[in-house]
Amino acid sequence: MPAELRIEGVPAAALARRFGTPVFIYSRAAILARLERLRRAFSRLGTSICYALKANPNRAVCRVLSEAGLGAEVVSGGELVRALAAGFAPGSIVFSGVGKTADEMDLGLRRAVLTFNVESAEELGALERVARRRRRVAPFSVRLNPDVKARTHPHVTTGRAEEKFGVEAALVLELARRGHRSRWLDFKGLHCHIGSQIRELGPFKRAAEAVARMLRRLQAEGIPFSLVDMGGGLGVRYGAEPELDCAQLAETLEREFSPWPAARLLVEPGRYLVADAGSLLTRVLYRKQTSRRRFVIVDAAMNDLARPALYGAFHPIAPARPRSGPSHRVDVVGPICESGDFLARQRLLAPVEPGDILVVGMAGAYGFAMSSQYNSRPRAAEVLMAGGHARLVRRRETVADIVFAER
Ligand code: LLP
Repeated sequence: MPAELRIEGVPAAALARRFGTPVFIYSRAAILARLERLRRAFSRLGTSICYALKANPNRAVCRVLSEAGLGAEVVSGGELVRALAAGFAPGSIVFSGVGKTADEMDLGLRRAVLTFNVESAEELGALERVARRRRRVAPFSVRLNPDVKARTHPHVTTGRAEEKFGVEAALVLELARRGHRSRWLDFKGLHCHIGSQIRELGPFKRAAEAVARMLRRLQAEGIPFSLVDMGGGLGVRYGAEPELDCAQLAETLEREFSPWPAARLLVEPGRYLVADAGSLLTRVLYRKQTSRRRFVIVDAAMNDLARPALYGAFHPIAPARPRSGPSHRVDVVGPICESGDFLARQRLLAPVEPGDILVVGMAGAYGFAMSSQYNSRPRAAEVLMAGGHARLVRRRETVADIVFAER
């Protein structure tokens, strides 16, 4: 029988008892181990790692990474405010997103972010107007859409020409020229992000080649650049599939951009740093067997972890304290009134009883970050383990929190 599950040495069941369920538990040591792995891979490059806040914007989690010296990637004014509050240096923050508003750009400009990753001609026009009004030069990079297909879920691929992201090669040059000429714009370089949870090297390589082609054209025109931002998307292992080899990725990028040693390489991983550092603990409420299926009904739902419902994503699930007896194929489902509300379908699970705690793994990225109050369910608590010590870093919401802003 497998052993009782522990997080940084503390039994998961004890954490569930102490903090209630559902609860997200993060491990500082696990985050730092991932960072170490990434840093070792990229060490020869002097690459800057900008943590993509969207994966997990909790301040305590962000602080682990800002204190480790990382930069940040943000996609909204809200993320920018949170990144600054978590201690990321403004000059290490890149501001991405296909629909930044003038107010968000103004905030970024006043806080002096490293660069705005611009995704359309109209957006560049808006940035120029904001900069002129503030009488402050706006640094920007152009996000290239390399028309590269990555094998991942269609909702999270971003590098093909039919997607809303980035600008096509012909226009990149035009925007760079415009920035080069403008008194209120400062062209910094190129940005590229082809999607998320990519586990093969090929798409990254093709994207890097497209970026390198564009750098050569910039060079030929005499337009200087200092940043090459290759985005995030580094795939991790949720089930049996292998994860992306980040050392190979580093090697590939290094080779591709070796003609420009003075240009600073940036990467923007989110998931890679925090996914495996987080677990969602949930309590078994009831079991139910129909003529077709066995269900395990738990107190966490799609509002807590949307990924299975949204992408059909796989998350490992195991009882915190295994019982002996035969495993069964079950659907692990939440209390929400939709059949799409499931954490796992047709999953072989060891026997459980009401009151048992289940540990849903790989929930540190895009878990709480994507949670909602759907069905008027207060959002879960968040706990950070550090040195075997558990600290509540976001209290569980109450129904009063849900109705707070209503008039
Ligand atoms: N940079 C940009 C410009 C991005 O759009 C993203 C993610 C990242 C970096 C970080 O990507 P990562 O390293 O985490 O793959 N909710 C989805 C993932 C959406 C990713 C959106 N953009 C999920 O749960 O799988």
